[in-house]
Amino acid sequence: MLSYKTILGKIQHELENLDFTRKPEELYEPISYTLSLGGKRLRPVLCLMACDMFGGEIEDAVPAALGLEIFHNFTLLHDDIMDEAPIRRGKQSVYKKWNTNVAILSGDTMMALAYGQIMGTPGNMHSRVFQVFNQTAIEVCEGQQYDMDFETAQNVSIDDYLEMIRLKTAVLLAGSLKIGAMIGGAGTEDAENLYRFGENIGIAFQLKDDLLDVFSDEQKFGKKTGGDILTNKKTYLYLKAFELAKGETLETLNILFNGNQNNDTGKIKRVVEVYEQLNINQVAGDLIDKYYQRAMSFLEKVNVDDSRKMELIKFAEGLKGREY
Ligand code: IPE
Ligand code: IPE
Ligand code: MG
Ligand code: MG
Ligand code: MG
Repeated sequence: MLSYKTILGKIQHELENLDFTRKPEELYEPISYTLSLGGKRLRPVLCLMACDMFGGEIEDAVPAALGLEIFHNFTLLHDDIMDEAPIRRGKQSVYKKWNTNVAILSGDTMMALAYGQIMGTPGNMHSRVFQVFNQTAIEVCEGQQYDMDFETAQNVSIDDYLEMIRLKTAVLLAGSLKIGAMIGGAGTEDAENLYRFGENIGIAFQLKDDLLDVFSDEQKFGKKTGGDILTNKKTYLYLKAFELAKGETLETLNILFNGNQNNDTGKIKRVVEVYEQLNINQVAGDLIDKYYQRAMSFLEKVNVDDSRKMELIKFAEGLKGREY
């Protein structure tokens, strides 16, 4: 089995070798900029790990892994416009550093570049891989639209939220694992169970992202703390807080989110106080654990020796305590 370190090293190396020196510079510079700012490289790591788990040659999964990472970075360019997020990976987001049109067009190009990579999958696999990738890409957009709709919707349930994050975030992690598994030679059932594992890890991952958005150290997280509060995102924290709050606390929440709150820092600070008072951090942590347990039950069903699952388990567990 290849170690996480070896796999990450391989991905970094392959990403560094991509050439975006074409013209016009305004189109390609933001692409190099984004891809060179780092990030966890989660999706390509999952893809190569899954391939390796079934005894596949990781070289065969490299184009798909690159396609997945480029696609993910494309979604970030557009997501930062939609979320009015000024900072990404500790640096100015593309639409802030350049402008919105640049972020739209560089993003579009990345989407096309991602498809180009996917089609580079060797052998007779690329059309099946393409199908999974394309379905995933559509679902991510569906999730993003729900995320936007929910900003102004009144009656968002926790189930609505969970379905929204399954679409915007979890399916890409799940799809990355499935694509890697398929290239590695997994059977349909194993690939599907790995997909389910990824879906549940992915939901936990987005729950954690929502927590970090409120409770992280901005330097480490690399994104503006409290961004979700300012944009009235219907996160689990928000929904749970409204569910648990009573009397004066509920009134405070109503004023903070529905009133004419024109002081950003004040709003964030007061919402955080309410979340702390209601112990929302702990409640969200419990749900994250639940999704982890569910994920593991799907991984257990995968028909490979336990020793071949260890690297993936370690990696997934590591994400639970992440600070960025
Ligand atoms: C950010 O994804 C978008 C979400 C789905 C929360 P990551 O947290 O994987 O971002 P990078 O690639 O590591 O920066
Ligand atoms: C992002 O969700 C999901 C996608 C980019 C598809 P967020 O909006 O929470 O991600 P961050 O926090 O900006 O990374
Ligand atoms: Mg965002
Ligand atoms: Mg978003
Ligand atoms: Mg977020």
